[in-house]
Amino acid sequence: MTMGKGEHAVLPQSYKSLLKHNKNTPRYTSYPTAPHFREIAELLSTGEPSYEEWLQKLDTQQPLSLYVHVPFCKKICWYCGCHTKATNKYSPVEQYLTYLKREISLVAKTIQNKHQTAPIVGHIHFGGGSPSYLSATDFNALMQHIKTCFSISPSAEIAIELDPREINEAKVASYKINGVNRVSLGVQDFHPNVQKAINRYQPFHTVYESLKLLKQYSIQSCNIDLLYGLPLQTPEMIAENIILATALQPNRISLFGYAHVPWMKKHMRLIDEATMADAEGRLEQFSVAQAALTQKGYRQIGLDHFVAENDPMAKAYDTGTLKRNFQGYSTDTATTLIGFGPSAISSLPATYAQNTPDNRLYYKMLDDGALPVAKQVALTEDDIVRRGIIEHIMCYGIYNLSLHSAKFSASKKALAHTAFINAETQLEQLAIDNLITFSKEQQTLRVLIPQASRLAAAAFDAYLAPNVAQHTQVA
Ligand SMILES: C[S@@+](CC[C@H](N)C(=O)[O-])C[C@H]1O[C@@H](n2cnc3c(N)ncnc32)[C@H](O)[C@@H]1O
Ligand code: SF4
Repeated sequence: MTMGKGEHAVLPQSYKSLLKHNKNTPRYTSYPTAPHFREIAELLSTGEPSYEEWLQKLDTQQPLSLYVHVPFCKKICWYCGCHTKATNKYSPVEQYLTYLKREISLVAKTIQNKHQTAPIVGHIHFGGGSPSYLSATDFNALMQHIKTCFSISPSAEIAIELDPREINEAKVASYKINGVNRVSLGVQDFHPNVQKAINRYQPFHTVYESLKLLKQYSIQSCNIDLLYGLPLQTPEMIAENIILATALQPNRISLFGYAHVPWMKKHMRLIDEATMADAEGRLEQFSVAQAALTQKGYRQIGLDHFVAENDPMAKAYDTGTLKRNFQGYSTDTATTLIGFGPSAISSLPATYAQNTPDNRLYYKMLDDGALPVAKQVALTEDDIVRRGIIEHIMCYGIYNLSLHSAKFSASKKALAHTAFINAETQLEQLAIDNLITFSKEQQTLRVLIPQASRLAAAAFDAYLAPNVAQHTQVA
């Protein structure tokens, strides 16, 4: 039976309760979240160290992680929330690569100044936009450049986000030669009517052929991105997407809820909102997918990841080393992530810095010999404590104050205690609504459905109130 808009199958009670709390809430890929980063000009008078100074202080004996942003795509998908631009010409990409390499050299030189050795890198992630837009020759040249600036660990994870529509054998060969060992394919939905409504035509066989090629080159670790909440999707269609996606046997499936923010991304206005499921419908789509994926043997990690039992992410969850960063859930345990390219965010042990999102300004700043940073925030001890609590809840859906703060200094213990006391009223309300279990006496909590982890985490967010409109609904 196919259900019409507004008609819903019976949802579990906890999902119904979630609707009551369906307000805009951060996804906590950082804390403080990006809307609380401050313009560099504002920081000049505060005496806070600059990003350059933070880089100079880094301990280069600890492996770093790199994020390389490629802000170009051939055509814009109307649901896209990423920082990217459509271009049919390749010349803007070539120009960009010249500047990107310049930025990579500048950062590496800044870090090396003190130590005179190339910083060790344990993880590289190419994201976008579409890194697969780069020609094989340009990807080779970019990797060679990174290798001259950094010392890549032989066991490094090198991951890339790929658009199946633009993969060819030369590109896959260049990924293999350069050590790429994890790929993520953008799929979203297999149905032609949905693909038309999101401006992304991508038949099943395109995804199938891409994976076949990647496997021929022994790139075995593959992730597929799917979305729910897109126009025209129904729970039945979501179930079909899961059947098709799992038939391709990826190691991981990311199942993201479409974040519709037309006030931030104008192209989203091209999507007919009347054809999108309401909050209850979205939850129904999610629970159908969740049940189908679990039935196929995938294990849910955090909000949106479903992984094969032997996947390193399942192991990271079991051993308590799972992390959450700007790419979402990650097995990467490095304490420093350096972002390159417009809009890229760097996360250092006590600061976040974000590059300008404006390509022209990015080029100008690099022409002037400056790091292209536009925003920064230095973390206080309170921020660091709350960041740890929030990351733990987002990764594991549980929190135990005494266990978590056992190794803290006295001052950090006191801060964690205060954060917990401050969160109690909100946590009590979530417990009344059956979204979490919460013990005030034992100072513990456990979320009862994954989506509630954003709400529980938000109870520990000291910055939240003024900017809620910049985030997305929980359902
Ligand atoms: C950079 S894209 C992936 C690589 C490549 N550009 C592609 O689309 O095939 C990263 C992923 O972000 C997700 N995404 C993009 N816009 C989104 C939105 N508005 N809400 C939720 N997820 C979104 C999609 O699942 C997409 O595959
Ligand atoms: S989803 Fe991927 S291909 Fe589509 S516009 Fe966004 S970054 Fe580009």
